[in-house]
Amino acid sequence: MNYRHLGKAGIQLSELSFGSWVTFHNQVGVESTVEMMSAAYDAGVNFFDNAEVYAAGKSEEIMGAALKKLSWRRGSYLISTKLFWGLHEGPNEQSTLNRKYLLEAIDGSLTRLGTDYVDLLFCHRADPSTPIEETVWAMHNIIERGKALYWGTSEWEAADIVSAIEIAERHHLHKPVVEQPVYNLFEQHRLGPDYKAVYEDHRLGSTTWSPLASGLLTGKYKAGIPDDSRGALEGFDWLRGMLTDQGRVAKVSALEPLAAEMGATLAQFALAWCLQNPYVSTVLTGASRVEQVRENMQALNFVDRFTPDLMSEIDRIFS
Ligand SMILES: NC(=O)c1ccc[n+]([C@@H]2O[C@H](COP(=O)([O-])OP(=O)(O)OC[C@H]3O[C@@H](n4cnc5c(N)ncnc54)[C@H](OP(=O)(O)O)[C@@H]3O)[C@@H](O)[C@H]2O)c1
Repeated sequence: MNYRHLGKAGIQLSELSFGSWVTFHNQVGVESTVEMMSAAYDAGVNFFDNAEVYAAGKSEEIMGAALKKLSWRRGSYLISTKLFWGLHEGPNEQSTLNRKYLLEAIDGSLTRLGTDYVDLLFCHRADPSTPIEETVWAMHNIIERGKALYWGTSEWEAADIVSAIEIAERHHLHKPVVEQPVYNLFEQHRLGPDYKAVYEDHRLGSTTWSPLASGLLTGKYKAGIPDDSRGALEGFDWLRGMLTDQGRVAKVSALEPLAAEMGATLAQFALAWCLQNPYVSTVLTGASRVEQVRENMQALNFVDRFTPDLMSEIDRIFS
């Protein structure tokens, strides 16, 4: 495993990391989680991602139970959670980054995760109805209370991230150090030219998500939706159109000879491609079974095989 600095922060994250979205509780319980997190950790993964909203808090509970069983030294790994959507109905507890919600929600997450602090705490989305200044102060206070070590944003517009940084600088508060954007061969805009100021001038880190476009980039949706896949899960029908879109499936097929020439599986090829981007600090992988974790971790063997010619050919397919 290689490790990259989280932007200009002192902390280093494994190039591949592991997240719980969709899978924990919906597809796997504590036992499989222990197995998959172990496989990742044994491969050198030091960062595990979660969110309050995943399986309505159950994903945090499962990760907490798994961490308890695993008994890893706390200094050897980082965990994150993300706040925004909320677990309770009511005007102040849903789709918000208000101070009251953030200061209360972090306590629920810590209890479910069974930890005194998370290493990274994300604002899971932007909240246009709360002043950014209020959110920056709340995130600063959470850090000052020792409940998170670093904070960041997820899927925020570049201008809002810069605004949060400037507010923090003005008041000498803890600044956001990381953004969590979608990033895969189909979705590249969140690391595109609009974010130059974020990643170059302010040197934020990034923990990028859905590197396999929910599994589409493994080639498994070529002949429709496999019964044991994310695309077949109840409650995730909104993903099906994207997973079976024939234009997208054709692009994945066009990658097959390129991956084969490298000796990589499509999943390994797509993951290794993400790591070509210097703005990426870590690629958050997901898996529903331990075999996928083992296959995905081997992507690291292919990171240095992407020549400029190959990158141009890939760009041509996805342009
Ligand atoms: N900040 C945000 O808004 C946000 C949003 C989404 C995700 N995330 C984070 O990013 C993490 C990763 O996202 P993701 O789960 O969407 O990643 P992904 O890599 O795009 O999709 C992972 C899914 O693809 C399938 N898969 C993975 N490896 C495979 C392989 N080798 N062969 C065949 N199928 C394979 C599995 O689903 P099946 O086996 O069920 O088909 C797996 O659960 C999440 O866990 C979460 O921590 C953050």
